[in-house]
Amino acid sequence: MSNMKGKSLISLNDLSAEEFWQIFELSASLKSKLKNGAPHRILEGKTLGMIFSKPSTRTRISFEVGIYQLGGIGMYFNQNDLQLKKSESIPDTAKVLSRFLNGIMIRTFDHQDVIDLAKNSSIPVINGLTDIMHPCQILADLFTILEKKKTIKGLKLAYVGDGNNVAHSLLHGCSKVGMDISIASPKDFQPNKEIVQESISNAKVSGSKVEIVIDPVEAVTGADVIYTDVWASMGQESEAVKRNEIFKKYQVNSDLVKHAKKDYLFMHCLPAHRGLEVVDEIADSKNSVIFDEAENRLHVQKAIMALVM
Ligand code: CP
Ligand code: NVA
Repeated sequence: MSNMKGKSLISLNDLSAEEFWQIFELSASLKSKLKNGAPHRILEGKTLGMIFSKPSTRTRISFEVGIYQLGGIGMYFNQNDLQLKKSESIPDTAKVLSRFLNGIMIRTFDHQDVIDLAKNSSIPVINGLTDIMHPCQILADLFTILEKKKTIKGLKLAYVGDGNNVAHSLLHGCSKVGMDISIASPKDFQPNKEIVQESISNAKVSGSKVEIVIDPVEAVTGADVIYTDVWASMGQESEAVKRNEIFKKYQVNSDLVKHAKKDYLFMHCLPAHRGLEVVDEIADSKNSVIFDEAENRLHVQKAIMALVM
């Protein structure tokens, strides 16, 4: 067992395969304790600061409910309420917050800000989404796949759409745990090359495959999981009209899913823009596990907090 106390969670590429499994095992145990009404106040008296510079439904509520269920307290800060990056630097803010809190969860734009916050904090920092990564989401997603399929290794996940933060963390996550991943994105919207290279290296160790293609049918063929996300992420709202046109043939609909395995899982981190990247018929189908993914954010993030705080 790896000792994760004090460790920040910024990128899934920083976790070992063993740490992924440690998180999944504790998530399963905490989920069953909650369902059975068994006590699990592992973080009694601890305080998590939650900094948000983008909106959130799932991340905010699951972290806040999660820390309460573990016996601790969650404090929400809108970045506009803090001196952070206005009249106070990230290093100074990190040092001050480290004197008050036991952990920080941050959702922001610039990934480097999260790295700098962690570098200057003596408490763990958890990435609740940046422009390039969304690690907590993908841990919850892999845990959901494991629950539904009873295995992860050897399965194929097809991600269809924008090569964004969710796609990047899927690349890191799948390649670490030994799941094949095929990403289909338009030419100018493919995932970050450095992250693809890191994932190819991970896949060599875990014995899985990483594939980046243009054609959504090619990615989805034979897939066990079909995953999509919004075409315009938070901060890209002004590009939405242009992107909706470019991404049209990347919609997950009944024509596309025909190419996957019959018992494929449909996944989406949510919020979904129904009628754009996915149609109701698929989002509400028996293959869809979108609300299980949302629920599992709670259980998996409780495990992360319990391990690092
Ligand atoms: N999936 C996700 O992170 O949702 P929120 O933006 O609502 O937190
Ligand atoms: N890619 C999306 C994910 C939202 C949870 C965004 O960054 O807006």
